[in-house]
Amino acid sequence: SAAAQAADHPHRPITVAHRGASAYAPENTLAAVDAADDLGVAWVENDVQRTKDGELVIMHDTTLNRTTDVEQLFPDRAPWKVADFTLAEIKRLDAGSWFGARFAGERVPTLEEYLDKVSANHQNLLMELKAPELYPGIESQTLQVLREEGWLNRHHVKHRLIIQSFSAPSVRTVHHLRPDVKTGFLGTPAVADLPEYAAFTDQINPSYRTINAAYVAAVKELDGAHGKPLEVFTWTVNDGPNAVSVARMGVTGIISNNPDVVRDAVAGA
Ligand code: G3P
Ligand code: CA
Repeated sequence: SAAAQAADHPHRPITVAHRGASAYAPENTLAAVDAADDLGVAWVENDVQRTKDGELVIMHDTTLNRTTDVEQLFPDRAPWKVADFTLAEIKRLDAGSWFGARFAGERVPTLEEYLDKVSANHQNLLMELKAPELYPGIESQTLQVLREEGWLNRHHVKHRLIIQSFSAPSVRTVHHLRPDVKTGFLGTPAVADLPEYAAFTDQINPSYRTINAAYVAAVKELDGAHGKPLEVFTWTVNDGPNAVSVARMGVTGIISNNPDVVRDAVAGA
C-alpha cells in the first residue's frame, strides 16, 4: 500500500547538484547552476576560494589549470594557484572549453555572481569553504558577502543556505561568527568524537564510501548546533544503485554530479 511504502521511505533524501550539475556542464560555473535548474534540482553545491587581490571566486582545485585554459594564457605562472592570480587575470580564463566546445567563453564566477544566479533561479546553496587554511579570514569575508547579497536574512538562513568545510576550525569559526547559519562538517568523524562536532555543526557530510546504516543512525541520534538531529549529506553518488543504498541507510541528502539520475533512482526505490 502507499502507506506502507511511505513507512519504508519516511525521509526521501534531498538531491544536491555537486559543483552544479557537473556531469552536464563545466563544474562551478553559472552554466552548471543553470543545468541543475533545468533538471529541476533545487540545491547546488560549490567551492569558494580567494584571489591574490582578495576577491572570492568559485573554483574546486586550489590551482586553475584543470578547469581553465590558464596554462595557455599564463605559461610562466606554474603551478597556477588561485591565490597567485588577480580577479582580472582569472576573468580572462575560459572555464568552459575544457568541458565542451558549446561552453566556450564560460567564466570563473565571483561569489557575488554565483549568488545572483542561484537567487535568480530560486535555488538553494550548499557552499563549501575549500582549503580555508590557505585563506585566513575567509569565513568572515564570505559571511560579509552573503550579508551584502541578502543571503543572511531569516528565510535564507533557515531554508536556503548551508556552509560546509573539511576544516573543522573553519566550520567552528562560521558557527561562532553567525550562530544562526546552518553548517556542515565534511568528513567521517569517529562516533565517539561526534558530540564535539555537534557543538558547532548541523550536518556530518561523509564520502558515501565511508558509511553504513549504523554510522548514519549514530550521527542522526545526536542533536546538532541548532538542537535538531544531525543531518547527513553524503557525496559523491553518481549512480542509481548507490543512491538507493545510501537512501536506505537514512541519509538526509545526496550530493551528485548527475542529480537527475539520483533523484529518479531514489524516487523509484
Ligand atoms: O560537497 C561534498 C564534496 O564536494 C566534497 O568533495 O572534493 O568535491 O569538494 P570535493
Ligand atoms: Ca566541494
